[in-house]
Amino acid sequence: MLKGRHLIDPMDFSLEEIEEIFKLADQIILNPESYIHSCDGKILATLFYEPSTRTRLSFEAAMLRLGGKVIGFSEPSSSSVAKGESISDTIRTIACYADIAVMRHPKEGAPRVASMYSDIPLINAGDGGHQHPTQTLTDLLTIKSKKKNLSNLTIGLCGDLKFGRTAHSLIKAMSRYKNNKFILISPKELKVPDYIRREVLEKNNIEFVEVERLEDVIGMVDILYMTRVQRERFFNEEDYIRLKDSYILDGEKMKNANDEMIILHPLPRVNEISYEVDNDPRACYFGQAKYGMYVRMALIAKMLGVK
Ligand code: CP
Repeated sequence: MLKGRHLIDPMDFSLEEIEEIFKLADQIILNPESYIHSCDGKILATLFYEPSTRTRLSFEAAMLRLGGKVIGFSEPSSSSVAKGESISDTIRTIACYADIAVMRHPKEGAPRVASMYSDIPLINAGDGGHQHPTQTLTDLLTIKSKKKNLSNLTIGLCGDLKFGRTAHSLIKAMSRYKNNKFILISPKELKVPDYIRREVLEKNNIEFVEVERLEDVIGMVDILYMTRVQRERFFNEEDYIRLKDSYILDGEKMKNANDEMIILHPLPRVNEISYEVDNDPRACYFGQAKYGMYVRMALIAKMLGVK
C-alpha cells in the first residue's frame, strides 16, 4: 500500500510495490484517456530549490494529465525561502495547500528532514549528490521495457559516479535484482562514494569492477548509463574543467558496442554523448525521459491512493 507514504530513497518501496507502479504505468501508456480524471480535485506542490527541466516538468505534466492541478516554485528566490524560512516551516505550510509534494534540494538529506514534518506524501526529486529515486523508477521502467527484464544484466555506469545521484540510486535499485553486474567507469577522482561500494555492492556480494577506460569495456555491457560531470558539486572550477570531457560517447566508440546494448542518460547532457549517436537505434535517452512522465503519473496515483 503506497497511499500516504513518502519516497525519499530508492529502497523505500519493496520490489512488489515498485512492480505495482510499473504495472499501472504500463496501463497508463496503453490507455492514457482512462486516467484523465484520476486526480480531479487534487493538488501537487513542486518545491524546487535547484534547477530542473525533466523532473519538475514531468511531474507537472503527470499531474495535469491525471486531471489534477499544480502549484509551487522553480527556484527558492521566488519563495519565502529567500527570507530565511526553514524547510520544516515551508513543508508544514505547503501541506495546508496541497495533497502531495515533490522536493529537489542541493543539500543531501533535506527531503528526508522535510518528510519528518510533512502531513502529505513527499517525494525526493534529487538531494545534492545523494539520491534521485524517481529518476531510478524512470530508469527501471525504461530498462524493463527495452530489455524485458531487470535481472541478469551487465550495467556500465560511466562519468561522474562520485556526485551523480542518479548513478547512486540506480546502483542501489539494480542491486536488488538477481545476478546483475556493474562496470563502473570513471576517472579516479570521480569514483563511486565508499558507502555505495561498501554498503551496497560489497555487503550484498554484487559483482563489480572499477575501470577508467570506456573503450575497453563498451563491448561487455547490456546497458550503458552515461552521466554528466556535475559542475555544480565541484569545489573548484579547475578540477571541473580538467575532468568535464573525460568521456565522450561517439559513433567510433559505438562500433565496439553490441547490437542489443541500450544507451541511457538521465539528461541533461553536456558533451558526453555526441549528437551523431542520437540516431543510433540503441540510443534510448529521450524515450527514457518520456517513460519518466508515465512512471510519475503512476507514482502520484499510487501515493494518493486514487483509482
Ligand atoms: N534527470 C534529471 O533529473 O533532469 P533534470 O535535472 O532536468 O530534472
